Amino acid sequence: MSLQFRSLSSEDELHTAQVVADRSAGVHLDEGEFERCLAYGQPRRWMGAFDGDRMVGSTRNVPLRLTLPGGDRRDHLPELPAANAGWTGVLPSHRRRGILRAMQRWHVDDAREHGEFAFFGTPSQSSLYERFEHGPVVYAARVRIDTCRAAFRAASMPAATVECLERAEALDRLPPIFDRYRRTAPGEVTRSPAMWDMVFADDPGQRQGASGLFFAVCRGADSQGEGYVTYRLEHHPQLGRAANILQVKELIATTAESHAALWRFCLDMDLVAHVEAWTRVDDPLRWLLEDQRQVQTIAIVDRVWMRLLDPSRLLSSRGYLPGLRLSLRLVDRLIPDNSGSYLVDAESTPAIVTRGSRELCDIALTIGNLATLAMGAESASVLADAGRISEELPGGLARADAMFRSTPAPHCTTPI
Ligand SMILES: CC(C)(COP(=O)(O)OP(=O)(O)OC[C@H]1O[C@@H](n2cnc3c(N)ncnc32)[C@H](O)[C@@H]1OP(=O)(O)O)[C@@H](O)C(=O)NCCC(=O)NCCS
Repeated sequence: MSLQFRSLSSEDELHTAQVVADRSAGVHLDEGEFERCLAYGQPRRWMGAFDGDRMVGSTRNVPLRLTLPGGDRRDHLPELPAANAGWTGVLPSHRRRGILRAMQRWHVDDAREHGEFAFFGTPSQSSLYERFEHGPVVYAARVRIDTCRAAFRAASMPAATVECLERAEALDRLPPIFDRYRRTAPGEVTRSPAMWDMVFADDPGQRQGASGLFFAVCRGADSQGEGYVTYRLEHHPQLGRAANILQVKELIATTAESHAALWRFCLDMDLVAHVEAWTRVDDPLRWLLEDQRQVQTIAIVDRVWMRLLDPSRLLSSRGYLPGLRLSLRLVDRLIPDNSGSYLVDAESTPAIVTRGSRELCDIALTIGNLATLAMGAESASVLADAGRISEELPGGLARADAMFRSTPAPHCTTPI
């Protein structure tokens, strides 16, 4: 029987789609987690693949706003509406028959219909989506710090104070802090109430042997707080000395001062031998310490991949250092309308992007590589060294490096 694809609408179908996604991912979510994942999928932008009347694959788009690199700005960065493509799954009985390929076409059509410039998510395998011209746009670093040797430089010692919160207070006080932070963080996204339910979830099944969640907020001049940390403790009692591990879940800071104070709070915790966290790849932590080698990077992973749908919109919306211009030749095999030459003129703000038919451009690249470059996740020169970008005009790569650089590096703490 041939496969059928269609958007889903009824509550029953959405429920079945979540079950299909779970089974495809090889999990049986407990009831609480199942309901939270289902709720995050609202409003109803789901697609199902059917064999007869049986659903055998499902996926969905969730609308949110993505913060873009700001060029010379560090606050109130530009943002655009985009779709979070997630919980994509095909039952083991129906794999390698083109269902994912059909889902990708649906993601493109659905996101464009809703006025979104891109869709993105955290793929289970980095080899899966390049064929559909996605590019990695956020990397994350896993760090481990030995607290015994993690003294701060005297000049870096923060003055801000940190206050411990109980869960009920944290539910109120953390979301506004996050919302201020995400406007300073390229790669970060808005959080719906359903996403906050997932972030705050603390069922025993999610703790992986560690404690329940702890919460602390950094008080700044404003009474709402300038940052927060949420963490768990892994208890490892040893003879004579406790060797607990503090697992940071989120460390969110709206100022350099609160960033330092929250790290200090974690590293000073009694009975803790190591702190572990996912951080942005250019986190300044190592520069705060006397001995920067104590910040060990255990892994760097490609966390978020993006399928860019409207390159002009990204190029004209993100920020740049003033006075830069760049031409680029773009190839998009799946959406041929996007192919062609573009001139990005950032001499004024916002940048002006025009399409043309230049014979030679500064650089030539595919749309997946443009997503990586324009979100500031990697430099043009590094991508060129890997044969992913070519330079057509002398100095083109250096101009692209200067044009697309993002400080801070893109980062996403939200479990999209
Ligand atoms: C990954 C998954 C969604 C693929 O679905 P599918 O319907 O079997 O994929 P398709 O048949 O449409 O294949 C599309 C292409 O992807 C390739 N592909 C599919 N699964 C792959 C995998 N696991 N690893 C590498 N390539 C894969 C296919 O070979 C095909 O390549 P081609 O275009 O060069 O021929 C499905 O296997 C699955 O649900 N896996 C478990 C859950 C999971 O990993 N979900 C992904 C969440 S991001």
